[in-house]
Amino acid sequence: MTETLRVELGDRAYDIRIGAGLIGKAGAEIAPLLARARVAVVSDENVAALHLDSLKAGLNAAGIEMVSLILPAGESTKAWPQFERTVEWLLAQKIERRDVVVAFGGGVIGDLVGFAASVLRRGVRFVQIPTSLLAQVDSSVGGKTGINAPQGKNLIGAFHQPALVLADTAVLGTLTQRDFLAGYGEVIKYGMLGDLGFFEWLEINGPALAAGDMALRAEAVRRSCQAKADIVARDETEQGDRALLNLGHTFCHALEAATDYSDRLLHGEGVAIGCALAFEVSSRLGLCSQEDPSRVRAHLRAMGTKVDLSDIEGDLPDADTLIDLMGQDKKVMDGQINYIMARGIGQAFVTSDVDANVVKTVLKEALASR
Ligand code: GLY
Repeated sequence: MTETLRVELGDRAYDIRIGAGLIGKAGAEIAPLLARARVAVVSDENVAALHLDSLKAGLNAAGIEMVSLILPAGESTKAWPQFERTVEWLLAQKIERRDVVVAFGGGVIGDLVGFAASVLRRGVRFVQIPTSLLAQVDSSVGGKTGINAPQGKNLIGAFHQPALVLADTAVLGTLTQRDFLAGYGEVIKYGMLGDLGFFEWLEINGPALAAGDMALRAEAVRRSCQAKADIVARDETEQGDRALLNLGHTFCHALEAATDYSDRLLHGEGVAIGCALAFEVSSRLGLCSQEDPSRVRAHLRAMGTKVDLSDIEGDLPDADTLIDLMGQDKKVMDGQINYIMARGIGQAFVTSDVDANVVKTVLKEALASR
């Protein structure tokens, strides 16, 4: 069964279609958007090896021709060299203003290709076909596109909404358990930031979902996308509520920088650790009960994902250095870090009024327990 959610953004509104087997039906799904029966698909080596033939068959079934560019897999692709290569390839393929570009992969591909589409001929439409859990529940929805700079993650980019998102939940079965659990960090984030009921649902259903229950996976993707669609419709360009989606991310971005964006720490793992730290700081500030960080950590532990700094292999810098790295965050305003804190599970809010000494103490203790 395919479910449809709508991201209500006026003349930039679009559907998120969620269901098993959507890649095989991609042609019929995308056809209504096309001025001519040809699309440019950009993917990575891993996704292409597993799924590009199915996508081609799905497009061809609706008479749509496909040209494709396959980029190296991994976070280092999300930078100027592969971005330049992608834009120039799209130009060489004579992709025109009325054409559609397809981003077929995880968060790296979605962000890079969306950004390429935003600047190509001053903007062409693009379709997201996210193949990782993280991309299905977060990065493919909401129009944040971009690449990394030497100075930090996602510092170069644009808001450019997709014209359609096709989340084929069957492909989640081809993810490694580590990648799946990393994506789960973004799923549980929605419960922690705004929906205690979803958090409780995940406490009950998380283990079965991780073990492969397809119906539960589809339900988790649907509820996550609905939460994101609602927030994006309220605050497309992050003037307010959208910042809540960054729960755990300020810590996460510092930890990713500290581990050189390597596979020592996947983004979603950093989000899970960052959320646990955000709840710990919230509790020390007296914003939420002491039980809340314990409950967050207990659930993450039960899921088998990373929870603590001790779960990151190798050396980490000291607390002061991590706080400096947090200062590179996009949410810094007038030199002040904007934190996402919580008054309880499901009750996150944005504040710059956080005692830096408390953050430092929490980080010091977390580093000491390694
Ligand atoms: N991933 C956070 C956002 O889309 O706003």
